Amino acid sequence: MPKLGVNIDHVATLRQARGGVEPDPLEAALICEKAGCDSIVAHLREDRRHINDKDIIELRKRVNTRFNLEMSISPEIVDIALKIGPDQITLVPEKRRELTTEGGLSVKKYEKKLAKIAELFNKKGIDVSIFIDPDKDEIRSAIYIGIGVIEIHTGSYSLAENKKSQKKEFNKIKEAAEYAMSNGLIVNAGHGLNYTNVKRIADIKGINELNIGHSIISRAVFIGIPKAVKEMRALISI
Ligand code: PXP
Repeated sequence: MPKLGVNIDHVATLRQARGGVEPDPLEAALICEKAGCDSIVAHLREDRRHINDKDIIELRKRVNTRFNLEMSISPEIVDIALKIGPDQITLVPEKRRELTTEGGLSVKKYEKKLAKIAELFNKKGIDVSIFIDPDKDEIRSAIYIGIGVIEIHTGSYSLAENKKSQKKEFNKIKEAAEYAMSNGLIVNAGHGLNYTNVKRIADIKGINELNIGHSIISRAVFIGIPKAVKEMRALISI
């Protein structure tokens, strides 16, 4: 049964719409935990468009499950993350003008840099995951530099316009996940997963954790966070 990580960035996005203090992403995180999620995910973006520095300090103090900090490899953010000490970091590519993380991080391109960053965090006992596309070359690079955890980008699967292309994207994810697991990696997945497309991904044998934000927070607008988390939890558990 895969674990469920809930990304609470969208609660902070709503707060930022008015520039005030509500809704508080920390409160959301605590409610998600009470509803049964396995980790809390937050992305400290370089432009601080949603989650800010104070949020991650509070999350670090109060999250009881696991705090997974999504972040770019910029030196400023790396320094902050080392000071905060989350349980896990997930390294993602970041472009200022994107609405959300658009693709995986190229391990091949940044092998040396990523290896150095991973060493800094691993020394402090912090797990390092890299968000990558379902691509065997990228997985080989991750193995080569000693990364223990990857998160496979499910965006192309989630955005597929018809059943045929969704199946094709699913097969890529499944093959990549199985290849990574057979080489000893822990495999997570996420991006664009929702109440209708999650099951297939959750059913990939051995997949460790699914990280989901937008669909859970969107559903929570109508039925509340506890129910939205429980519904997703039930879907991925069966
Ligand atoms: N995993 C990673 C690495 C992400 O960047 C995001 C988006 O912040 C998610 C999971 C969650 O994506 P979504 O909000 O589409 O569920």
